[in-house]
Amino acid sequence: MNTALDNVLNKASFDKSDLVYLLSLEGEDEQQLFEKAYEIKAKYIGKKTYFRGLIEFSNICSKNCYYCGIRRSTKSVDRYELSDEEVMGAVKFAMNHNWGSIVIQAGERSNKAFTDRITQLLKKIKNTYAENPPGITLSLGEQSEEVFQEWFDAGAHRYLLRIESSTKSLYEKIHPVDAVHSFDYRLENLKRLQKLNYQTGTGVMVGMPFQTLEHLADDLIFMRDFDIDMCGMGPYIEHSETPLYEHRHQLMPTEARFRLTLRMIAILRIMMKDINIASATALQAIHPQGREMALKAGANVIMPNLTPVKYHENYHLYKNKPTVNEETDIYIQDLIKNIHAAGDSVGHGEWGDPKHYFARQSKNSI
Ligand code: 5AD
Ligand code: SF4
Repeated sequence: MNTALDNVLNKASFDKSDLVYLLSLEGEDEQQLFEKAYEIKAKYIGKKTYFRGLIEFSNICSKNCYYCGIRRSTKSVDRYELSDEEVMGAVKFAMNHNWGSIVIQAGERSNKAFTDRITQLLKKIKNTYAENPPGITLSLGEQSEEVFQEWFDAGAHRYLLRIESSTKSLYEKIHPVDAVHSFDYRLENLKRLQKLNYQTGTGVMVGMPFQTLEHLADDLIFMRDFDIDMCGMGPYIEHSETPLYEHRHQLMPTEARFRLTLRMIAILRIMMKDINIASATALQAIHPQGREMALKAGANVIMPNLTPVKYHENYHLYKNKPTVNEETDIYIQDLIKNIHAAGDSVGHGEWGDPKHYFARQSKNSI
């Protein structure tokens, strides 16, 4: 065991230089970091993985983020929106398998027809499962306070909105610099969600062009200072039809991005012991068992994709996105087997809310 590392790992709080050091660990030292994170997960939230059935509701998007394969300017994707029946079918699958929660994700749109449709779907889900409703997470981008409130009242109680990078200058390199892609507005939206009492999740992409370990250290500090309840972080994976693709030569190899993401997860688990950390699908794009490996590094949420398979080819945010049919019993049995092999059990029949949210609420009410 590396005792210098052990001393850092046992500090009450990490400073930026500790974080950069931890982010650069390799080999046995990296393993020691993962073990520490897993130990903390076991102690504070238990060796349990929660499933959220992921429904990629629509790939229509009004934004043009430089990294994303379904950005507005991508011409080669057929744009779709799921029917009510398709959404309810996916929810049913999740409920039949006794997963406590679902996630509804889509490209960003703020027109009233869209926001109303989401409200109606939320009500339909809550009414259909009035006895035992699923926990509902939304991941639908930036919205007005009224819309966030309307969706909350209709039954959503968690929201994921990645900051992508907490460094404004880096954010502005990976997005067009205009009013609809404003860093300050993104931040304001996150604050809105927290104020409206959503369980608030954010996250970043790891291994992007122009990104340094210092940026990532700042991202971790941002998440701690913002007091997030949930986090989803995944490796950046280049997509040939996006503007950022021209900077692919400066990227580290995908395997290195994968491991760096696992280190981000492990460090965050040590810093924020009782939040929920999702094991992102992008991990699985690099390594078939990537998501299960993240559980060993401190993640505790997996979001199996319940979008009907015929739409998968049109929801490629990045290349090599897994297009397996996760909506099959064999797939799920296999996933559960891998989770057990990683040492976790599955939190069936529970919402699996982040403990941190309740601790934060009671702290704020004192
Ligand atoms: N690589 C990895 N993640 C991506 N996302 C979008 N494009 C990519 C990409 N090329 C992530 C963003 C977004 C989430 C829905 O998907 O972080 O917030
Ligand atoms: Fe749209 Fe989200 Fe992709 Fe940006 S990352 S282009 S908001 S789907």
